[in-house]
This record gives sequence, structure tokens and C-alpha cells, in this order.
Amino acid sequence: MLLRDRTVLVTGGASGLGWATANLVAAAGGNAVIVDLDADAGRAKAAALGAKARFVQADVSSEPDAKRAIHEATVAFGRIDGLVNAAGIVAAEGHGGFVDGALRPG
Ligand SMILES: NC(=O)c1ccc[n+]([C@@H]2O[C@H](COP(=O)([O-])OP(=O)(O)OC[C@H]3O[C@@H](n4cnc5c(N)ncnc54)[C@H](O)[C@@H]3O)[C@@H](O)[C@H]2O)c1
Repeated sequence: MLLRDRTVLVTGGASGLGWATANLVAAAGGNAVIVDLDADAGRAKAAALGAKARFVQADVSSEPDAKRAIHEATVAFGRIDGLVNAAGIVAAEGHGGFVDGALRPG
């Protein structure tokens, strides 16, 4: 199977689309690293998946947090094979609250 023993880092993995993705990874025999702001939900969800899951509390908008999440995932499983970015905020009314920003490589 494609995901067997592969490690996938899933941001927003404590809820919704991210949690569904982490479940799918674990069900396929892969390692799921749940990265989320919500520590209570993240710990509970990782525990539900067992030894092939880890939780890292992190804010994906913080570069130091993102680097720490990558470090912890690598320490836990030796490598990262995939990334699913599902962290986000479900807007109740439109997208008027978005802030313009610049993404820079490196
Ligand atoms: N659910 C849908 O049908 C759908 C459709 C299109 C787009 N989206 C978008 O996909 C994203 C996820 O949707 P969902 O339904 O899974 O939402 P959700 O609220 O169920 O899950 C989002 C998760 O992201 C986490 N999170 C939020 N900000 C974070 C941050 N800065 N750092 C780390 N974790 C953070 C939350 O704690 C939460 O656990 C949202 O941006 C949403 O707008 C969802």
C-alpha cells in the first residue's frame, strides 16, 4: 500500500478534514503526525490512533513552531514523506477577514 510506513504531517489534524486525513493515513498503515493549535483535541486524536501517531502543538503561522513540528516528526519517525495542510479557520460569513501577506521561500 502506498502509505504503509510512510510519515505524513497533517496540519489541522485535530479536527475536520485534517482529522479525516490522519485517520486515512493510519488506516493505510502510515504514521500520522497531527499538528494543531488545539492541544486537548490533538492529544486525544493522536492517542486514538495509537503508536503510529504523534501530536505536536503548533501554530502553523509561526515559523519557529513549524520548524519544531518538522523536527519532532523527524525525531519520532525518522523522515517525513508527505504534508497535508488542513489547518484553517472556517469562515462563518464570506472571506472579508483575510489579510494580505507575502510568502517567501527559504
Ligand atoms: N470542511 C469543508 O467542507 C471545507 C471546504 C473548503 C475549505 N475548507 C477549509 O479547510 C480548512 C479546514 O476545514 P475543517 O472543516 O477541517 O475545519 P476544522 O475547524 O474542523 O479544523 C481546522 C483545524 O485547524 C486548526 N487550526 C486553526 N488554525 C491553526 C493554526 N494557526 N495552527 C495550527 N492549527 C490550526 C484548528 O484547531 C482545527 O483543529 C479551513 O480553512 C476551511 O475553511 C473546509
